[in-house]
This record gives sequence, structure tokens and C-alpha cells, in this order.
Amino acid sequence: MSTTSLKTSRKPTENPEIFKARRNKVTKAILAQDGVATALIVASHPELIRNDDVLYLHRQDSNLYYLTGFEEPESILLLRPGKNPESVMFVRNKNVERETWDGFRFGPEGAQKEFGIDQVYSIDQFVAKSTELLSGFENVYYRMFKNTEVDRQFESLLLNLKRSFGRSGYGLLTVQDADTFLGEFRLIKDHTDLANQRKACEISAQAHVKAMKGTKPGMSERQVQALLVAEFYKNGAAREGYNHIVASGNSATTLHYNFNDQVCEDGELLLIDSGAEYNYYSGDITRCYPVNGKFSPAQKKVYAGVLKIQKEIINFIKPGIFFKDLHEMGTNLLIDLMFELNLVNGRKEDVLKSLEYKKYYPHGVGHWLGMDVHDAGLYFIKGKPRPIEAGMVFTVEPGLYIPGADKTAPAELRGIGIRIEDNVLVTDKGCEVLTSTVPKEIAEIEAIVGTDFN
Ligand code: GLY
Ligand code: MN
Ligand code: MN
Repeated sequence: MSTTSLKTSRKPTENPEIFKARRNKVTKAILAQDGVATALIVASHPELIRNDDVLYLHRQDSNLYYLTGFEEPESILLLRPGKNPESVMFVRNKNVERETWDGFRFGPEGAQKEFGIDQVYSIDQFVAKSTELLSGFENVYYRMFKNTEVDRQFESLLLNLKRSFGRSGYGLLTVQDADTFLGEFRLIKDHTDLANQRKACEISAQAHVKAMKGTKPGMSERQVQALLVAEFYKNGAAREGYNHIVASGNSATTLHYNFNDQVCEDGELLLIDSGAEYNYYSGDITRCYPVNGKFSPAQKKVYAGVLKIQKEIINFIKPGIFFKDLHEMGTNLLIDLMFELNLVNGRKEDVLKSLEYKKYYPHGVGHWLGMDVHDAGLYFIKGKPRPIEAGMVFTVEPGLYIPGADKTAPAELRGIGIRIEDNVLVTDKGCEVLTSTVPKEIAEIEAIVGTDFN
């Protein structure tokens, strides 16, 4: 028997308690700072025009989602640690006509009820209500330049507050960067964060396996991308964490190649850098494999060299070491490989000092990973490198890129671009590779490519 479903409202994607716990962590940390009454404001990004009257799909600002789970544009969170109400939001009003065209809006009442926020107002009341609610505060965390419309309102808010001080001698509230502050919370993943992070890595890994199995010479890069995308959505991803890089042949030497419109030719390598996003957490995996399933001797030489380095770096990871140590280790080993492959010559220290190696390895060894693919969190604290801690997640992605037009490189190596990228979780004693189910050994790759082509 079938019944008609009346989906007249929506529910939050994740349990509101998760976000309440995160807000509590943040308010507690603010209250533990000495003496200065501090508030926090986090706003959504502006909606962006894609073409004419078509907008890009809105993806919530990572920090705003991290603290609220609320996904609509034109929304702002105000946190007032230790005060009542402590959590305040400003959201779009209900609007029958707009909802008929664009879909459901929670409205202030719905947002308050469904998201466990203490008090929710219309977005139109942001300046007026915040002027009242920030009275008595001396400092506010806010991120400038993300949303110029909200920046303008924030300026009015600061001026209103200053005026309200009267002839007291007090100036404006001090403003500190909210993203820097919140990045520190996001950098160490707790149980909930990790469940999402693992799932994002798992979906990403499954998609890479699917793509490897489904690749044959003559397919377009876009057709390979379609295999990745289908697997993402089938397994519950909301979207991709960043634009897919599906780069055949020489295009792999372009780090963030996004055209994905060429044919994958017999004899070429294919570099895929792709990650699914699940509950706002992103995977970030790169694999390179021969389109026809068999590495040429030259391809094998470069690939094996980079793979050995990637594994060596992963084996070195443990709490207490510095992220910059990993980068230096990767750079050193890659320069050795450049010598082995006759890409550079002379003295190693000169290649290092002159930055000549950047011609073939222009990026870093990796980056924090989480809700943003290049995730939030400091790499240095007060100028000093920070030690790696259990609960951090980052990528390890050494690469070697030999442009096709590089006349100084041995001819057989020109046009080969290799990056091998995994995602690791730092544990108490070392690390766990969250993306280990995607083959990267040469024999494994040769055994799997093209085995499920239809
Ligand atoms: N996917 C971008 C990066 O690896 O940094
Ligand atoms: Mn990466
Ligand atoms: Mn990547």
C-alpha cells in the first residue's frame, strides 16, 4: 500500500546535540581566558551567482556549520559565553513565495526549535539586536572579508556600540580573527569529528577503486570523473570536497588541473586527486596509474621512487614530531630522487638552497584535513613549529612533476607527473592511514586497472 508523503518540513542533517557540545567547548575556552568579556560572531558566506539567475549551490561556511549544523545562507551565529541567552542566531524569515521556488526555510522559530539555539531572530535584526546583546563585551571574535555585506553590518554594530559607551573614554571593541581561534578546535578531531572524517575517507577510497577498475584507453577524463561522482553519491556523500583533478598524461604536471576534458590515451598515466565530502568532512586522495594497466619502465621508475618516499614519511609520523620535519624529510628525499633520475645535478645543498627543486616539487608534503580540504589550524604557534598530536588528521602527498616542455629533463621522463596522497590520523603511538584501501603498490595497481570496464 502506498501513501502520499507530506514532506512539509525538514530536519537537521546531524543531531543538534553534537553542535551544542561544540559550542560548549568554545564558550568554556573563552570563559577560561583571563578577564576580557569576549563574544564570537560567525556568518555564512554570500550566495554566489553562477550564471544569470542561477546560483551556485550553497555550502555552509565550515565554522558556522561546525557550531550550529545550520545550512541556510544569510545566517549568523552570535555566542555570548556565560550570558543568557548564550547562543543566538539570525536567520532568514519564512517566505511562502521564495519557499515555493527555492525550498523550505526553517525561519527563526523553526531554527530555535530544531537546532537547540537559545534565541533566534530574523536576519534583518542582526545589527539592532546585536547592539543590545554585545553591551558589556570588550572583545569579539569575527572573520572579516568573507561576506562584505555582513562586514558592513558589523562595522555599524561596532559604531553603535561605541556610541552607546557615551563620553566614557572607551573606544571600539577589539576584534580578533574568529577563523584562527576556531581552527584550533577543529584541528584536533574528537569522536564525532572522526566518525565523519573516516566516512569521508572511506567513500573517497571506494570511488578511487571504482575509477581504477573502470578506466580504459580512449575514455575521456570526464567519463572517469563520472565514475567517481556516481560512487560518491551512491555512498552518501553530499558533494565533492574540492574540484576533481582527473589529469591524463602531461596534464598531471599541472598541480590543480581542473579541465578534465581530454582523452585518456593508451600509454599515458592518469593522475586522480579527488575526495568526497560527508557531513562537511572531506577526503583528499591522489592516485596515479597507467591508463592501459601497465607501467612503462620510465613511469615505473618515477612512481616507485615517489611511493617509497611517501611510505617512509608515513612511517615517521608520531606524536611529538613537527609537521615541518615531515616537509623537510619529503623535500630531502625528493631531491635525492631528482638526482637519481638526472633531473638535477651539482651539489645537493645548492639545489636545496637555490630552491631549484621547486621546478619538480613545488608544493608542501601535506596539510591538515577536515571540514575544509586545506583545513583550519595553526602550523606554527608564536613562530615555533607545533608538535603533532593524537587526533590530528592530515594528508601525506609527496609528488614529482616533470613538465612535457622541460628540455633539460631526460626525454623518457618528460610529461610524467606523480603524486601519491593518503590521509592519516595521528594515534598515540604513530598513525593510522584512513585511505589504505586504495591500491598504491605497482603490482596491485596493474592487477586492478581496467578489470571492471563496461
Ligand atoms: N586536493 C588538493 C590538495 O591535495 O591539496
Ligand atoms: Mn591534499
Ligand atoms: Mn589532493
